Amino acid sequence: MNELEKRVQELNQLLTEYGRAYYVLDKPVATDAEYDKLMQELLAIEADNPDLIYPDSPTQRVGGTVLEGFTKVEHDYPMLSLSNVFNEEDIREFDRRVKEAVGEKVSYICELKIDGLAVSLKYENGRFVQGSTRGDGTVGEDITANLKTIRSIPLKLSEAIKIEVRGEAYMPKKSFVRLNEARDEAGDEPFANPRNAAAGSLRQLDPKIAGSRNLAVFLYGIGGDGEAYGQATHSEALDYLDKLDLVTNHERKRCKSIEDVIEYVNSWGAKRSDLDYEIDGIVIKVDSFEDQEQLGYTAKSPRWATAYKFPAEEVVTKLLDIELSVGRTGTVTPTAILDPVRVAGTTVGRASLHNEDLIHEKDVRIGDYVTIRKAGDIIPEVIGPLVDKRTGDEEPFDMPENCPVCDSELVRIEGEVALRCVNPQCPAQLKEALIHFVSRNAMNIEGIGERVVDQLYTAELVKDFSDLYGLTEEQLLQLERMGEKSASNLIAAIAASKENSLEKLLFGFGIRHVGEKAATLLSREFGSLDGLMAAEPEQLLAIHEIGEKVTDAIETYFSNEDVVEVIQKLKDYGVNMDYKGRTQQEIPDEGPFVGKKVVLTGKLSILTRGEAKEKIEALGGEVSGSVSKKTDLVIAGEDAGSKLAKAEELGIDVWDEAKLIDVLEVKE
Ligand code: IVH
Repeated sequence: MNELEKRVQELNQLLTEYGRAYYVLDKPVATDAEYDKLMQELLAIEADNPDLIYPDSPTQRVGGTVLEGFTKVEHDYPMLSLSNVFNEEDIREFDRRVKEAVGEKVSYICELKIDGLAVSLKYENGRFVQGSTRGDGTVGEDITANLKTIRSIPLKLSEAIKIEVRGEAYMPKKSFVRLNEARDEAGDEPFANPRNAAAGSLRQLDPKIAGSRNLAVFLYGIGGDGEAYGQATHSEALDYLDKLDLVTNHERKRCKSIEDVIEYVNSWGAKRSDLDYEIDGIVIKVDSFEDQEQLGYTAKSPRWATAYKFPAEEVVTKLLDIELSVGRTGTVTPTAILDPVRVAGTTVGRASLHNEDLIHEKDVRIGDYVTIRKAGDIIPEVIGPLVDKRTGDEEPFDMPENCPVCDSELVRIEGEVALRCVNPQCPAQLKEALIHFVSRNAMNIEGIGERVVDQLYTAELVKDFSDLYGLTEEQLLQLERMGEKSASNLIAAIAASKENSLEKLLFGFGIRHVGEKAATLLSREFGSLDGLMAAEPEQLLAIHEIGEKVTDAIETYFSNEDVVEVIQKLKDYGVNMDYKGRTQQEIPDEGPFVGKKVVLTGKLSILTRGEAKEKIEALGGEVSGSVSKKTDLVIAGEDAGSKLAKAEELGIDVWDEAKLIDVLEVKE
């Protein structure tokens, strides 16, 4: 095995281990940055050496090709559903029927009923080979590529066995909230609840979409004969799944009596809103496999299990008004102002109405009595009006033609449901943009929140990001509720933020589609803001995970004259515009690589690609993934392919590995 193969195996192992610690054991052992760095190294090697891409490489989760359709899979064992019970009496009735069949000494196991999408996962020789949806129970759809993007699904088990497991894929509440916010902002239809969001994500033909949605899975059983794996009870079988590295839900409880079952069910009625994921009930299962067998099945469901369904909590209140707000990208979103009412544990006074179409579809009018529910138990949602309660004084709502903040004409972008204010000087957008700029994951300027931004804006002290850096303590002291200590802390925090690494600034700009991840990838690739601004679209597209949307958005953003002006002002204030990640070492002033754009291709045998990259960067070179007119030098290892050909075509300098070693050794 050569060095490169060894390194690939090492990277596979490390990344799998880090991923397992994070997603399966919930105990991270590496930082995100460490993980990212190794992942980038592996991706770079694999890009040039497709023969070194192993099927269970952690990169294979990301999802490369877009599918043309899903193929059908016939399940080896049907995927059944569960009978339902709705109250204590029903639960006792279930218990009576069970005892009639297997006698008094029966034990139950209670589990949370995860509200997602049923999936079946097949492993052979311990490797994940196929995953499918339930479909009609007999035939489902092959969604292997999408399921591979779910980090809590191991690609390899701790034992090299053949097994089919069943479980629920779901979207955590937080991801759901974030996804819908982003969809509102982008003018897309929001998902009604986390279950629809999970199902919608797994039904996408482009696995990148599922990969970006933060889905997770809990396994709740073995497909087929559980006893075949040497377990006598369902609870043992679940413990066994844990041992295999398959994620099960740990809130389960063995119950010796139906009283214990009822107590468990009741305890979750109140607690469920504290969970990070949504549950819609409790599944009650007979624990012993022998008892299960004796009880058997009806045509649709097992007689040894049932699902208690929580009642959906809905309340009625009055819609007092509809308020409009303008987001960072100009989207105008309507919000229902409600007569405050308690639902599922909290008092609700506002609820997003998402967009005009939805208001008209539901026909909600100001003054209506409306039914409220919490979508996904978290986001309050207006379901619809009680038409019978209308008095005739209710007013239908129409979106205004002009921006509620700056009065410029609103536009509806084709294919979007949202109305947008496209005036880049609109104060609402500028304010939102500033709030984002100072936020923790962006420039992280502590001490400025919405309130201070509002005041700075109203006092006309700040109009764009750069004005923050010109603020003085005296100016801050004019603001309401701003003491000397806070003012001087704030000035210090603003000054400290000048030293941030490029990705924070780039994320802070709030360019559409440029999230933290993209900001980091771009910063790492180009090293400086100037480098990014001068990059050709092809160079952006060559970066794994940067697509056309991001590329277009960046082009549009930096071609705006106002933007260029603000950037110049930031520079004048001394705001750092370079990437400070660990690849950016102390760079010498002169030498063979200073200021050179270098591309590595083909198999290197003495150095690993990561080592070569590190050394070149340490000597002031910039290593990128694709050959373009701007490339100065290509290092071609064995079996170099299209990149070498392109370099030759463009007349770019090409070195072999021996020459690289020569130069590096001379310089070391
Ligand atoms: S056991 C024979 N356990 O609820 C059926 N199901 O109709 C075995 N579900 O869509 C199902 N959490 O995917 C079981 N802890 C759990 C569950 C669970 C969610 C889903 C299941 C199916 C539906 C039952």
